[in-house]
Amino acid sequence: MEKFADLGGVIPEEAAREQVTCMIPVLQQVLAEWGESPSNLAAIAVTKGPGLLGSLLIGTMTARVIAETWNVPLIGVHHILGHLSSPWVGSLDDPVFPVLALSVSGGHTELWLRTSHTRGVLLGRTRDDAAGEAFDKGAELLGLPYPGGPALSKLAESGDALRYEFPVALKHEDHFDFSFSGLKTSLRYKIRDLGGNAKKEYANLAASYEHAICAHLIDRVRKAMDHHQVAELHLVGGVSANTRLMRECENLASSFAIQLRVPEGAFRTDNAAMIASAAWFMKEELRQKAFEAFETNASLRTEDAMIG
Ligand code: KG4
Ligand code: ZN
Repeated sequence: MEKFADLGGVIPEEAAREQVTCMIPVLQQVLAEWGESPSNLAAIAVTKGPGLLGSLLIGTMTARVIAETWNVPLIGVHHILGHLSSPWVGSLDDPVFPVLALSVSGGHTELWLRTSHTRGVLLGRTRDDAAGEAFDKGAELLGLPYPGGPALSKLAESGDALRYEFPVALKHEDHFDFSFSGLKTSLRYKIRDLGGNAKKEYANLAASYEHAICAHLIDRVRKAMDHHQVAELHLVGGVSANTRLMRECENLASSFAIQLRVPEGAFRTDNAAMIASAAWFMKEELRQKAFEAFETNASLRTEDAMIG
């Protein structure tokens, strides 16, 4: 990721090239640490989509080749199902369904009502930018490096979250969708209006902007919890690393007397373990269906994350 900080985003071709050089050494290291024969693997799990086509193809082609060579079954996993399964990476807790899951990343913002590890319905989604994108675009306006989320929330720590007011989208509408594009525009105008004084206000702007993103997310989640009785609230995806959002979700969950589950630190942003976690549950719940042939698809639909 450091590689792309100066470029302001991921360059697909570069990311794929990097992957080619990393893939085999990483596999070798993991197998050496595990210390068993690859033929003892229960399955090979791989992301089938959505995402950057070059990276997806390198991943799926490698997985197909090693699965065939080692004679191990192959499971293709939807990226979003990976995020939704991430709270169970390294956890032996029994799942408690139904779960309301807020999945917030750089490419997606969704609210899922899950009835099992592979079943559920999409209650709402963003109509424009994703929450992570709102963080990244806001950070860019404040001159911070990519990916902007962590940098913006660091700057926000020293700012006043109530100094500037941002519009909270869709507040009175009776559905569970999200919208973030108005926030970004509002930040742009605030910076423009502050003119020469804008830089001095960057920490306050960052804090108020972060507050507004969280307020919108929490508003939608609360609405969903008013409509659906759930046993747990889950917060997943890269933006779940945001301390303010986590705190506000915790408060919301405790006001409904339910538990909040968030993945462990390293498993909040994109990672391979969450894909293995999802494949494990697919195998448990779907049996043979989990191993069905799949296609690599860069634009796999979000609604298809659930299989059951
Ligand atoms: O899930 P993820 O690793 O990749 C995608 O599937 O998109 O999410 C990356 C997103 C980026 O937009 C990044 O800025 C955001 O997660 N992010 C954060 C924080 N850490 C990562 N946003 C706000 N606060 C953070 N601490
Ligand atoms: Zn992701």
